[in-house]
Amino acid sequence: MNVVIIGAQWGDEGKGKMVDFLASDAQIVVRFSGGANAGHTIVLGGEKYALHLVPSGILYPDKTVILGSGMVIDPEALFKELEDLEKKGVDWKGRVFISDRAHLVLPRYREMDRETEARRSKPIGTTGRGIGVAYSLKASRDGVRLADIDDEERLVNLTDEDRAWLSLWKDRLLPLKIDMVAYLRQHRNTWRLFEGAQGALLDIDTGTYPFVSSGMSCAAGAAAQGGIGPRGIDRILGVFKAYSTRVGNGPFPTEFADDSAGSLSQYIRTVGNEYGTTTGRPRRCGYLDLVALRYACAVNSIDRLVLTHLDVYDDLEEFEACIGYRIDGQMREDFPASVRNLERAEPVLRTFSGWKTALGTCRTYEELPLRAREYIEFIEEFTETPISIVSVGSDRNHTIVRESPWIK
Ligand code: GDP
Ligand code: IMO
Ligand code: MG
Repeated sequence: MNVVIIGAQWGDEGKGKMVDFLASDAQIVVRFSGGANAGHTIVLGGEKYALHLVPSGILYPDKTVILGSGMVIDPEALFKELEDLEKKGVDWKGRVFISDRAHLVLPRYREMDRETEARRSKPIGTTGRGIGVAYSLKASRDGVRLADIDDEERLVNLTDEDRAWLSLWKDRLLPLKIDMVAYLRQHRNTWRLFEGAQGALLDIDTGTYPFVSSGMSCAAGAAAQGGIGPRGIDRILGVFKAYSTRVGNGPFPTEFADDSAGSLSQYIRTVGNEYGTTTGRPRRCGYLDLVALRYACAVNSIDRLVLTHLDVYDDLEEFEACIGYRIDGQMREDFPASVRNLERAEPVLRTFSGWKTALGTCRTYEELPLRAREYIEFIEEFTETPISIVSVGSDRNHTIVRESPWIK
């Protein structure tokens, strides 16, 4: 059985936590896209693990994890991450594999990324990890795949420096290389999780272009870049927070206008610890945008939603969520493609009463206060998508399962 998990907002929704949680029932976890721009956090027994390239199933000693075909992999970052895991007692050897179709990020891509950003009149606010450069070269057919690094003919267009650098990593990369499609076919009777990076609104096609990342963070990415094809997907889960955040630049209709000391924006950033896992940048905060979430559900055929960070609202008297946009005086209930329209969109907000109760100890849906359930049920109705899992804290066990994704 194949379950896909993607971000349904602008990234950092808690995908790492959910993949780690659901991986207890899986045998294989495939990360299908992105690179070291991602930061997936797992908290286990008080210990924090920040993963960038390694799939979030790695903390279980018996799971196989695969870096999929849609990924762009910086070997330096990968082996540093694996060494850090080893220092924390995670034995990864023999169960971390890389698709031979995955692309590599060369050191000069990072420089090119920063130079391109510096030249932009409106910078995107990239993570500076060379991601856009790697995907551009992939699209222009000048990228370097893992399958190519021992094929001299494929490397003729590289500089001597590139080739020397690749030869440094070759002996460590090649033992991890697999034909992922064949591997998954051979292990077809396993339960597999497909872990997305970034989020639907940062996807190159479905996101707020050009303020997006360059990979496929949409569910379709799991089919094309996870090695199973569209019919292989059994279930698609979209993870979203009780509010919205965004790192880097680009339109964000529900962003709090006031970010001064004592503002709600700063409160949420502090309580939710909204600082980038990869760059440490403070995340921009705002209310939940249901128009954007409904769009993410539609464009990704999300079967079930996973709500995280509900506990961040524990102490609020009341809060709001966006149920429409007003653009030039006109009401809109759909998510516009134009950045200009998104920037001008005034959110139409609905107010919800807070629950003023700590949710951290709740383990069943019925234990949640009525006000929290009312919020959940409003979201389900608005998006026409059931919420099957609710997360009330960062630890693996801070999780309420209403319906397991593993049941067909
Ligand atoms: P990802 O990129 O989607 O994996 O998310 P990140 O790891 O970048 O950011 C999510 C952050 O929220 C991490 O620090 C998680 O430990 C934390 N987190 C996840 N779920 C919850 C939750 O339900 N409540 C709270 N308070 N924190 C959470
Ligand atoms: P996870 O998987 C949040 C954002 C960057 C920038 C834009 C383009 O942890 O949810 P890039 O370096 O990819 O070219 O930057 O995308 N971005 C993310 N924001 N979470 C992420 O990943 C992100 N990966 C990229 O901040 O705005
Ligand atoms: Mg993240």
